[in-house]
Amino acid sequence: MYVCLCNAISDKTLREVVRRYQPKSIQQLRKLLPVGKQCGKCLRLAHDIMNEELPNAPLYKEIA
Ligand code: FES
Repeated sequence: MYVCLCNAISDKTLREVVRRYQPKSIQQLRKLLPVGKQCGKCLRLAHDIMNEELPNAPLYKEIA
């Protein structure tokens, strides 16, 4: 499912980025993905998905 229609960002992509980079805020997420950079309608859903996915993020950090 698309979360951000303007930038064609799917929930799968969003979840993957959240698990990998573990952004602490929607501002940090927006530095990783262009979510909400046009109409902004997707920000609330993106925020909800981010909060839903963060507990599933691995506890280790990738090296290199
Ligand atoms: S739907 Fe994401 S910026 Fe418009």
